[in-house]
Amino acid sequence: MKNWDELSFDFNSTGGENLRRYYKRGEWTAPEYTTSEYVPVHICSASLNYGLQAFEGIKAFRGVDGKVRLFRPYAHAARMASGARKLCLPMPSAEEFVAACVDVVRRNIEFLPPYESRAALYVRPVLFGTKPRLTVRPSDEACFCVFATPVGPYFKDGIRPIDAIVNRNQDRSAPLGTGDVKVGGNYASSMLSYEEAHNLGYQAVLYTESVEHRYIEECGAANFIAIKGDRYITPKSPSILPSITNDSLMQLAKDKGLEVEQRPVDVAELPTFEECGACGTGAIITPLGNVFDPESGEKIHYGDEVGPVLLDLYKSLQDIQYGRVPDIHDWCVVVE
Ligand code: PLP
Ligand code: COI
Repeated sequence: MKNWDELSFDFNSTGGENLRRYYKRGEWTAPEYTTSEYVPVHICSASLNYGLQAFEGIKAFRGVDGKVRLFRPYAHAARMASGARKLCLPMPSAEEFVAACVDVVRRNIEFLPPYESRAALYVRPVLFGTKPRLTVRPSDEACFCVFATPVGPYFKDGIRPIDAIVNRNQDRSAPLGTGDVKVGGNYASSMLSYEEAHNLGYQAVLYTESVEHRYIEECGAANFIAIKGDRYITPKSPSILPSITNDSLMQLAKDKGLEVEQRPVDVAELPTFEECGACGTGAIITPLGNVFDPESGEKIHYGDEVGPVLLDLYKSLQDIQYGRVPDIHDWCVVVE
């Protein structure tokens, strides 16, 4: 593959191998590998009809030392397991999950972008209910797949700021719903608000919680983070996906002596922040240049360039992912 830096965050087909395992009669089949990009799905399956599906997104990086590192796959395994519990789906063990991801990286090693590029190999585990059943019940049959594709940054300009719009008219998730797990339904419920924001010229939607529409939830498919003086501020809510990138950034912020506040964040606080951003595996850290609040009519301008604190955190995160500094928190799994 050429022109790694021109890759978008998309399924960039390579023809490489993916893995499948099937759960039937109480046990998982051994991993199978194929180059087919299609999975057989029954027309009446629980995933196709009732959305019984969970997924993850993990990046593998080629390091400065030539080693290949998968970033925090055990944390992704734990998050998929929490989604599987909520959806009553069977789930492979954490060890099996990580082994599957490592195996898929190995089998797609020729599609792993080189160290110098801004691209990475994105590993996507997907778990879905395969039981053909018309009644609305848990699926005791499932498929676990892992595929890999090289990707560029989620927001195509990388670390360049994007614009977001505050949303109060379409909820992404409910407090006691599925917002805290990575399941397809959350993305289905975000589609219309994304489309509306996009048509107005915004690249991201800043969701508010579904009770008062007063507190910030997430920024599109990423967590919201803000900097105010020496404080790293990020929303706390039961309907936010616990981002592994955000968790890592909170640790790095603490390591740098910043105070970390994970608490409800009122939309009214937006003008008081010095830097704002969206963070996630795909987004890494994407700064917000402007945030428009249609209710107040106010457009808050944070800057045309990434701010110094978010840039520093971005570099520190990538230093670990690319093996430029010791992995003191033991986050990376080296793919031998
Ligand atoms: N929030 C949502 C809704 C997401 O889809 C993602 C992406 O995975 C994130 C947050 C960031 O999570 P992570 O950093 O674990 O990728
Ligand atoms: C990620 O950041 O890894 C995501 O999964 C975001 C989105 C593509 C769903």
